[in-house]
Amino acid sequence: MAYVTEQNLTDVVLERWKAIPDPRLRQVMQSLIKHLHGFVREVEPTGKEWFAAIDWLTRTGKMCDEKRQEFILASDVLGVSMLVDAINNRLTTGATPTTVEGPFHIPNSPEFGSGENMAKEAPGIPCFVTGTVRDLDGAPVKGAALDVWQTDGEGIYEAQQDHHDVWMRGVFRTGADGSYCLRTVAPIGYTIPMDGTVGELMARTDISHMRPAHIHFAVTAPGHHPVITHLFQKGDPYIETDVVYGVKEPLITDFHKKPAGAKAPNGETVNEPFYEVHYDFVLQKTSKAQLKGAAS
Ligand SMILES: [Fe+2]
Repeated sequence: MAYVTEQNLTDVVLERWKAIPDPRLRQVMQSLIKHLHGFVREVEPTGKEWFAAIDWLTRTGKMCDEKRQEFILASDVLGVSMLVDAINNRLTTGATPTTVEGPFHIPNSPEFGSGENMAKEAPGIPCFVTGTVRDLDGAPVKGAALDVWQTDGEGIYEAQQDHHDVWMRGVFRTGADGSYCLRTVAPIGYTIPMDGTVGELMARTDISHMRPAHIHFAVTAPGHHPVITHLFQKGDPYIETDVVYGVKEPLITDFHKKPAGAKAPNGETVNEPFYEVHYDFVLQKTSKAQLKGAAS
């Protein structure tokens, strides 16, 4: 075997890493090695810089636990999460577009009845979200689950809370006519967590670390392609510069202001100003018939 040199090292490594029985893993590792070596050849890091990078990755890993995921955040701010999302959700035009799940989803949220308040005592302006879940043919999807999570009116997610109560999340279901109704409080734009390794990196850039106000939805129904998405508040100052590149035009919604004393969609009279949001989700069936026209 030839001794390795700066010139032949990539080829030598690629040759050895062919010895992987699983063809997909072999493909992934060949590509990873090519791109990593290409990156190092382009950047030519000093030893000190390379260890700084390893230290950053080490500290990023150490920040992760069951409630905080700094690696997802890193993937988000580099636009990789949105790219993976786009590749895996080539839906037919007309279906509600997907966007990043983000690092704040917590599984197994409590179930709420239609029109119930998932915000409990959380601070913020009351906000009612109503609409339907339908398929591409316009037929209502009965019993679709809407897993909803968001910040409270002060920009805080459950994962960022000191106490351990369920906070600003819940599961709602559509009725026979495909309709849903939920009460929450209006989210506000927020900064991504800046006290970790991603924040440390962002602080060395001139890039905005803000996300526009949004409510996260994971809409699922048997026989339909799930849609993990957000609804964004129209007019939010950070719509154009979302730090995780999550905004898609069809997801920007009007938050209609209503005066104190007006009747809310769930029938209650609200004694303070509130918002009404209406959004119809469109799911694509997983059957071949509706997958045919999938955009590439
Ligand atoms: Fe979010």
